[in-house]
Amino acid sequence: MTNTIPEQDQVLIFDTTLRDGEQSPGATMTHQEKLEIAALLDEMGVDIIEAGFPIASEGDFAAVSAIAQQTQRASICGLARASFGDIDRAWEAVKHARRPRIHTFIGTSPLHRDITKLSQDDMAEKIHATVSHARNLCADVQWSPMDATRTEHDYLCRVVEIAIKAGASTINIPDTVGYTAPRESADLIRMLLERVPGADSIVFATHCHNDLGMATANSLAAVEAGARQIECTINGLGERAGNTALEEVVMALKVRNDIMPYRTGIDTTRIMNISRKVATVSGFPVQFNKAIVGKNAFLHESGIHQDGVLKNAETFEIMRPADIGLNETNIVMGKHSGRAALRTKLRDLGYELADNQLNDVFVRFKALADRKKEVYDDDLIALMQDSTTHA
Ligand code: KIV
Ligand code: ZN
Repeated sequence: MTNTIPEQDQVLIFDTTLRDGEQSPGATMTHQEKLEIAALLDEMGVDIIEAGFPIASEGDFAAVSAIAQQTQRASICGLARASFGDIDRAWEAVKHARRPRIHTFIGTSPLHRDITKLSQDDMAEKIHATVSHARNLCADVQWSPMDATRTEHDYLCRVVEIAIKAGASTINIPDTVGYTAPRESADLIRMLLERVPGADSIVFATHCHNDLGMATANSLAAVEAGARQIECTINGLGERAGNTALEEVVMALKVRNDIMPYRTGIDTTRIMNISRKVATVSGFPVQFNKAIVGKNAFLHESGIHQDGVLKNAETFEIMRPADIGLNETNIVMGKHSGRAALRTKLRDLGYELADNQLNDVFVRFKALADRKKEVYDDDLIALMQDSTTHA
């Protein structure tokens, strides 16, 4: 197996923006855009890039092959269903990567077994055959029991053991419909580690969807229980309510390293840039109050907060904007802003005011702020020019 087991405290970041993320209705990206995003992911230190689903279309195949050839550092992964045809196609697409990976999956829950009309035994045989086939082609094979969180525990243990014996070195546990909750997510990983022979020689991955808004919490709970790979997307892009957001799990592990002592290889100062790129090319804007990368995530408007932040940023900021590569001002001027913020803002714009001048400008600023939602730098400059004319 080429997939080395990470150090005890290391968590691998598996980005699937280009595969699960692109499955969001309307989020289709062009070939060139996918290449650009893959380059940014590689530069920021993502360990594994799931570049697409090669059997899905000629375009997906071409994008995965091109990403495999251009990528310097990260492993490049292609998705395949449990069929030899899918697996061969995925291998064709990734085989020129420095570090190729095949990711094959099958739905193992009763609902999925009903659809595929496979008995437990027939499915177990299929898993053995397809994982072995992938392993004969590629040294790094990942296997996923889709809908794992709704699969019977005994059956889940049985098929995970089969996949490990057939050569999978990463076992991904998908919460396909965003159904699990943090305690259950942790218990599931713990149960697999305890019950499945050979579980200590492979990496468990957690792959969460956000239907109940718990994807980040569920992923972190899985890590605390022993998972060492988080599957995620930039901005949480993904079908329905999306996938675990890369920026959230990475920053949570960084900011709360005191209680979650795990590290990732991500250069967090590149987060904002790639977030903007993915929002632009996917056409999915980031909600204003989205954790970490939302437009408002570091903005302070209320006077009390602005005053606190100006005196000591830690009063109202648990991380610095620069940590995610945001070098813009974090003070937004509006009707809740106070004198201290106005003085600082005007100083930044080149105006040093005596107290009586500040009082005068403050009154007119408040009147303006009542009329406008946000008062921009240009508005303040106009206010100052107006004061000098009327002085
Ligand atoms: O959510 C899911 O189950 C998936 C699998 C293909 C891993 O994306
Ligand atoms: Zn998924």
